[in-house]
Amino acid sequence: MDSIRIKGGNRLSGVVPISGAKNSALKLMVATILTDEPLILSRMPDLADTRFLSNLLSHLGTDVERSGSVVSLQTANIERAEAPYDLVRKMRASFNVLGPLLARNGKARVSLPGGCAIGARPVDLHLKALELLGAQIELTDGYVEARADKGLIGSKINFPFVSVGATEHALLAAVLATGETVLENAAREPEIVDLANCLIAMGARIEGAGTSTIHIEGIDRLLGADYAVVPDRIETGTYALAVATAGGEVLLKDAIWEHNEVLWDRLHMAGAQVTDQAEGVLVTADQERLIATDIETRPYPGFPTDEQAQFMAAMTVAEGRSVIRETIFENRFMHAPELMRMGARIDLKGNEAVVTGVGQLRGAQVMATDLRASVSLVIAGLVAAGETMIGRVYHLDRGFENLEAKLAACGADIERVKS
Ligand code: EPZ
Repeated sequence: MDSIRIKGGNRLSGVVPISGAKNSALKLMVATILTDEPLILSRMPDLADTRFLSNLLSHLGTDVERSGSVVSLQTANIERAEAPYDLVRKMRASFNVLGPLLARNGKARVSLPGGCAIGARPVDLHLKALELLGAQIELTDGYVEARADKGLIGSKINFPFVSVGATEHALLAAVLATGETVLENAAREPEIVDLANCLIAMGARIEGAGTSTIHIEGIDRLLGADYAVVPDRIETGTYALAVATAGGEVLLKDAIWEHNEVLWDRLHMAGAQVTDQAEGVLVTADQERLIATDIETRPYPGFPTDEQAQFMAAMTVAEGRSVIRETIFENRFMHAPELMRMGARIDLKGNEAVVTGVGQLRGAQVMATDLRASVSLVIAGLVAAGETMIGRVYHLDRGFENLEAKLAACGADIERVKS
């Protein structure tokens, strides 16, 4: 297993090109199931997760070809309307093939994903939404067996709480249903808007994406389209926090200002400067130390749970005490004990972490259990004295394209150690 070695202490300066958003790309790829025509996706990040989904789609019968950052997908026929446990267990987003398979093929068999490192993560809202759209669902031997013999039928779906995945899943199924579907209490994340825009480019009739109420008028057939994946707001926030923590000045090229407004607000409070520029977002940090600032994770437009670990890393060396509250996932502080191995002072109480900033972290051997937790250790390593070795790099490879190269180009002393 590869590791990443970082020698801390260098300031960062230069340009980081922001890649296409992993969490959007994965759902856009799934949209290929809805049409027999080619779907050409550009600004596609090359990540373990997108490669993994390509394998699943190939298994279903999709022809997938990549050329640079463009991926062409064509599902002329569904050859197998089933996603086995081994493919869904490794990446939960695979579960989202269920709705589109059902919409196009009338039946599907997809493994339940099971729990994961950040929480139980049930899929009850996904299944409820599909049932409301007329699917008959049975759970057998760890699999969802779903049928819609007469096709899906538009419906009113009122989510009891906000779920990104369930909103996307309902969208992906309802575009081919008969009649109108209304999603209430829908997620408003930029990835939802991106998926809706891609589906609209394929001919779907959708209004209201980005608000809590989405209207979908089902149609018989979707067409092919050329579509560019939205720049990754979580990658943007991650590099912004890296610069704010390590110090320096970096342009996050192609980053969209509006997608991270709460983070910009918190970074201003913490003493860093962030400005909206024509080419992206410029982050400047020339302060001695950041000032401790509190956050609470919330569905968009609130503070993203996917930036919580990185923010905590920044706060470990800030002046004062910050309170970090995680309200989306029940087990998303797994990075805290690893940060403590580097000298951070963190008290965990339920869903709250109280971080008391220390003057200096020390490099150590660390490892993490998920993608965002791993990258928080990279941020800590950039400011720690001495050498940090981060294990289980495969977590990082799931969601950060060219991480070492992007940071090294800005002056970080970072390298991958192959084993
Ligand atoms: C998406 O997960 C992202 N993943 C996550 O990013 C992100 O953290 C999350 O949204 C929140 O922004 C992808 O897009 C692939 P949810 P998702 O449904 O859709 C509970 C990363 O690191 N829930 O909004 O699974 C759930 O357990 C990943 O890139 C149910 O109870 O998140 C959680 O507590 C990690 N029943 C809450 O809702 C359901 O049926 C919100 O989850 C569905 C969700």
